[in-house]
Amino acid sequence: MTNLSPWHATVLTLFPEMFPGPLGVSLAGKALASGVWTLDTRDIRDAATDRHRSVDDTPAGGGPGMVLRADVLAAAIDAADAAPDRPKERPRLLMSPRGRPLTQSRVRELAAGPGPLIVCGRFEGVDQRVIEARALEEVSIGDYVLSGGEIAAIALIDACVRLLPGVMGKAESASEESFSESLLEYPQYTRPQAFEGQPIPEILISGDHAKVASWRRAESEALTRARRPDLWVTYESAPKGTTKE
Ligand code: ADE
Repeated sequence: MTNLSPWHATVLTLFPEMFPGPLGVSLAGKALASGVWTLDTRDIRDAATDRHRSVDDTPAGGGPGMVLRADVLAAAIDAADAAPDRPKERPRLLMSPRGRPLTQSRVRELAAGPGPLIVCGRFEGVDQRVIEARALEEVSIGDYVLSGGEIAAIALIDACVRLLPGVMGKAESASEESFSESLLEYPQYTRPQAFEGQPIPEILISGDHAKVASWRRAESEALTRARRPDLWVTYESAPKGTTKE
């Protein structure tokens, strides 16, 4: 089935003023302005029902911090899903440091679909019952703790949007291909020919394309082995040119 509507992201947050933020400039911003993708940012607080518009409460069983209420978040999700022109079936993500780590292959899947609904967590967490009742897929962007899911959501959307048809130029496409082979990028150089006494590696100005290609591959492999043993295992265990992570 061809998808005629543009890729769409719905973001549920307590800080709607953080959007589009960085997504409003550069590649993603141009694509947003030209309608390649659309963004619906919603304030979770709008779903609060009490006089104080409260969205959080103290954790059951005690402990520090506050927990996002299940009823309020469920109402926010349901209202977002009831908005006109929303994809009927779409991934529902919850940005959280305890989520499954985001990978380029998951980014590719999300970019190929209609676009996700993304909940940005805050406080000490989100009531487990709404995570289950609304089938939220927890996603982490790395093993460190941000003060909320907004920056993580921006990172995820940016990674998806650059893959949408017509968003990337040739240069960016090439770097995507390289990562999809489980290898880190080789080092790059440009003019001037000498910088603080350091020349550009001889081979790169030799004009021998085959030699340049094999030098770059060797550099990529050495870098990957040294910095990312996890990627190196994937690369080594897959037939050359077939790895996707
Ligand atoms: N919220 C706080 N830290 C996060 C992380 N590392 N990834 C995704 N969401 C988060």
